[in-house]
This record gives sequence, structure tokens and C-alpha cells, in this order.
Amino acid sequence: MDKIVVTGNGPLSGQIPIAGAKNACLALMPATLLSDEPLTLTNAPRLSDIRTMTELLSSLGAEVTALNDGKVIAMSSHNADNPMAHYDIVRKMRASNLVLGPLLARHGRAEVSLPGGCAIGARPMDLHISALEAMGAEIELRDGYLHAVAKGGLKGAVHELRFASVGATENVLMAASLAKGTTVLKNAAREPEIVDLADCLRAMGAQISGDGTSTIEIQGVDSLHGATHPVVTDRIELGTYMLAPAITGGEVELIGGRRNLLESFCQKLEEAGIVIEETANGLLVKRGGDLVKAVDVVTEPYPGFPTDLQAQMMALMCTAKGTSVLEEKIFENRFMHAPELTRMGAQIEVHGGTATVTGVDRLRGAPVMATDLRASVSLILAGLAAEGETVVSRVYHLDRGYEHLVTKLKGCGAKIERVPENG
Ligand code: EPZ
Repeated sequence: MDKIVVTGNGPLSGQIPIAGAKNACLALMPATLLSDEPLTLTNAPRLSDIRTMTELLSSLGAEVTALNDGKVIAMSSHNADNPMAHYDIVRKMRASNLVLGPLLARHGRAEVSLPGGCAIGARPMDLHISALEAMGAEIELRDGYLHAVAKGGLKGAVHELRFASVGATENVLMAASLAKGTTVLKNAAREPEIVDLADCLRAMGAQISGDGTSTIEIQGVDSLHGATHPVVTDRIELGTYMLAPAITGGEVELIGGRRNLLESFCQKLEEAGIVIEETANGLLVKRGGDLVKAVDVVTEPYPGFPTDLQAQMMALMCTAKGTSVLEEKIFENRFMHAPELTRMGAQIEVHGGTATVTGVDRLRGAPVMATDLRASVSLILAGLAAEGETVVSRVYHLDRGYEHLVTKLKGCGAKIERVPENG
């Protein structure tokens, strides 16, 4: 297991290219199961989660080939005849549950291992199950697997999600594309990754409207053809790297960044005194010498403040002027970065789903431990601004969601290295 050593080195300046979205790509890849014709994704990110999804789809009989150094993923499912997603692979990544809808649509049955909880919460599947049952599936939980059958195939239905779940919305979008009749999904998730999946499915011949709003209508078709689709820009990687000049000072241009992917996040950064300018190549983010102001944050489903940027924002608030209150309303245990930041001198009090942060003049470098993907990168951000050396261990968490992180930050003047754990 490697570790990352980062030493506070003053303001950053330069350019950072933003990759394709992990959370879009993980939903787009299972769509190959909906057609016997080739589906090719371009602008794909090079991440360990993508390799895990590749392993899962291959186990189902799909052919998945990484081309152009992994930026292109060429898939074909004409031989995909296995409806069982095995625990050994599913346990590595919750997003494996996104094969449930496509397998049901393709085979009329599916056996998908429950993903099990993860560091940030229990992450059950009840919303996926109730939506697919509304479409005629019979789903039973047995021996840690969801055994799903849709006798005579899935049927269109009108269904309202109790909570605007991203994954449940994605499973329904894919399942309903090949169902008999029309599906209306209410209280659907509105994330850009949902719209990207809908764009890809439409390119394959699906009849979908309303994506990006709370009500999505899908008219089932008999079959879907192949397509080539570019993965949308990763708004969470974008937001993460916008915080690098915010926390260190300086000026960084995020190449490929688009403000409309992160409006509520950008408004919060501006409220804190950060300047964001749209350029011909993306977004320019800068902070003058003056201090960052403390702001309050509440995480909500899109278009609210993204839960996946809460940990990173907390790192910024640790060095802001004043006190900020961060409320995490999406996951039940997503403050594991707080005690690690405290080791660096941050003043944070956590009570349930609320963290109160009192800004300090300067954080101090310390050995800290990564616990989950976004917590890991918040420690890197803190280390960029801290006095002295921060050593972040268990950085395999980072490899799940950030390609070439050290290279990207080094290119802007950061003092950062990746070394073997016992190095
Ligand atoms: C997606 O997870 C993202 N992952 C997450 O990103 C992101 O944090 C989350 O959406 C919220 O935006 C991918 O897209 C691969 P949910 P997902 O279903 O679909 C509860 C990252 O860091 N829930 O919207 O699993 C659940 O427990 C990851 O990139 C149920 O109760 O999220 C959670 O509290 C982390 N029952 C909340 O809803 C269900 O059946 C949000 O879950 C499903 C979810």
C-alpha cells in the first residue's frame, strides 16, 4: 500500500485537466448489457473503480476492452449470458449494483450479491428493489444475494422514489428502456450523471424524456442498438481541484470545467470569498491574499451542495476565518475525515450529522489515514496548505476516484510525492 507525502508549499498556480466522471462511467458501462451491438465510451477516466466494473461485466460474459490508454472503453455483450453478479467482485464496489436493472432487462432474471455496507454508511438497496418490483419483478433476498425474476419481462409502471436515489434512478432508467409500456419515475435523482446516462441510452435508441428533472418518462422499446458516447466531465473531481487554489491561495485553471455542473458549490465558494471565472478552456479559480470566510454547508441531492464535496469543503473551512457548520444529510457516517483533520490542528466538533468547524490560522502537517475516497482527498488538500509534512496512508482509496492526482497537483507547484508504504 502506498502513501502520499505532501508538504505545504505556498500558493498553487497552473492548469489541471479534468477527466470524465467516475460516477457517470460506472452507470454507463452496465448499459452494454442492454444491447447485442457494441457500446463504446470515450473520455473515460482511468480509475480502479472502472477496472472493477470491467471485471464485473466480463464475469457476466461481456467483452470489455480498454483502448487509448484507458480513455476509450469498447464493450460488446452479444455473448453475455451469465445473470449472476458474484459477491467476490460486488463487495469491492457498491456501484456493482447498477447491473441489476440491465440484467433483469436482458435475461428476465438476475442474481446480484448485496454490496454490503461501506465506510460511509449501510447503503441499502430497498429503493432499487421497490422500483423494480413496481415494474413486475419479483425480488427475494437469500444468502446475501438478490434473486430477481421478471416473468414475461418487465412492464412500464408509474413509481415514486421515497428518496431521490442516484443508483435507483439509474437502474430504473436502464430497466425501463426495454420494458413493455411506459414508465414514469417520480422524485427521480437529477444529477448530471443521470442526464449523461439518458443521453447515452437515447443514442442507443431509448425513448426517454424529463431526465434532469424530478419526473422522468421512459417508453420501452423492443431493442437497443450500439452507440459511441463521451463520458461527461467529472464535477466532483472538478470541485475537488477548485479547492486547491482556494485553500493554498494562487490561481488554477481547471481545463474542461463547466460551472453549470456545480452551481450550488460555486456559489458557496464565492460566498467564502473565492473568485471563479469562466474561460475559453474551463474555469479559473483564484484567491487573493485575503482570508477565506467561513460559510455554512448542507449537503442535498442535486442541484444542492454535493455530499461528495463535503469532506473537501471541510478542509477549506478548517483554515477559514470564523465558524462554519456543515450538515451531512445524505449519508449517516461521512465525517471520518474530521478526526484526521483534527490531528493536523483543525478545530472540529461532530455531533451526529453536523460538524462545527472553527477556522485556525494554519494547519500543521501530520501522519493521517485515508478512510474513504473523498475523505482521502480532503486530507491531501489540508496537507497542501499545512505547515510542514503530511503523510497520508492507505491512498488506494484515492486511486478509486482520482487519476494522476500527484502529477496534476505537482504541475501547479505542489510539493507532493507518492512513495511505497514502507518507503
Ligand atoms: C451515488 O451513490 C454516488 N456513487 C455516490 O458517490 C454519491 O455520494 C451518491 O450517489 C449521492 O450523490 C455513484 O454514482 C457510483 P444514493 P448511490 O442511492 O447511488 C440511501 C463517491 O464518492 N439509499 O443516491 O449509492 C443511501 O444509503 C460516491 O463517488 C437507501 O436508503 O447513492 C444514502 O444514504 C460515494 N436505499 C442515500 O440514499 C436505497 O435503495 C443516497 O444514496 C438506495 C440508497
